[in-house]
Amino acid sequence: MGKKENDPMTARVLSVAAIALWLVTVAVAVFFFVRGQTQVAPDGRTAVLLASDERNLVLTEMRGMLETVQVVVDGVKAGDMKQVAQAARASGVTAAADVNPALMAKLPLEFKQLGLSVHKRFDEIATAADSGASREQLLASLSTQLSDCVACHAGYRLDAVTPAAK
Ligand code: HEC
Repeated sequence: MGKKENDPMTARVLSVAAIALWLVTVAVAVFFFVRGQTQVAPDGRTAVLLASDERNLVLTEMRGMLETVQVVVDGVKAGDMKQVAQAARASGVTAAADVNPALMAKLPLEFKQLGLSVHKRFDEIATAADSGASREQLLASLSTQLSDCVACHAGYRLDAVTPAAK
C-alpha cells in the first residue's frame, strides 16, 4: 500500500496513456491502409511503390485483363456467349483473390476499390453473357469497364523500389 504504482491517480494516467498509444497505433494503421505506400511521380500521377516481384505480379494480372478484354470483344463479335462468359470469369473476383496482405497494404484505398470493382464487373459481364444479354448490353458494360481501366491508369503508376537493407 502507498506504493506509487498502486496509486489510483497513477493507474488512471497509465490507462489514459495506454488508450492514447492504442489510438495512435490505430490511426497510423488507418493512415497506411488509406494511403498505401505511395509518392507523387514526376508525371503527376501517384506512384505506388512496390518491390519488383510485387510490381511484376500486378503487371501480369493487368496483361491478363487486357487479354480478357480481347477475348470478350472477340466473343461478342462472333456471338459466342460461352467464350465471353469464360473469359470474363477468368478475371473475376475469385480469380484475383490470392493477392498477399503485404502487397494489399501498399495499395492505396482508392486503388483497391477500383481494382475490386473492375474484377466484380468482369463477373457481372460473365453472368450477363450466361443469361442471354444482348451484344449491345455486353458492349455497354465493357465500355464502362474500360473507363475504369483508363481512370486508374490516368491516376496511378507502379514504381519498383529496392527494399531497405536490414
Ligand atoms: C486499380 C487501378 C487499375 C485498374 C482498375 C486497371 N489497371 Fe492496368 N495498370 C495499372 C497500373 C498502375 C499500371 C502500371 C502503369 C505504369 O506504371 O505506368 C497498369 C498497367 C497495365 C498494363 C501494362 C502491363 C505491363 O506489363 O506493363 C496493362 C496491359 C493494363 N494495365 C491493362 C488493364 C486493363 C485492360 C484494365 C481494365 C480491365 C486495367 N488495366 C485496369 C492500374 C490499373
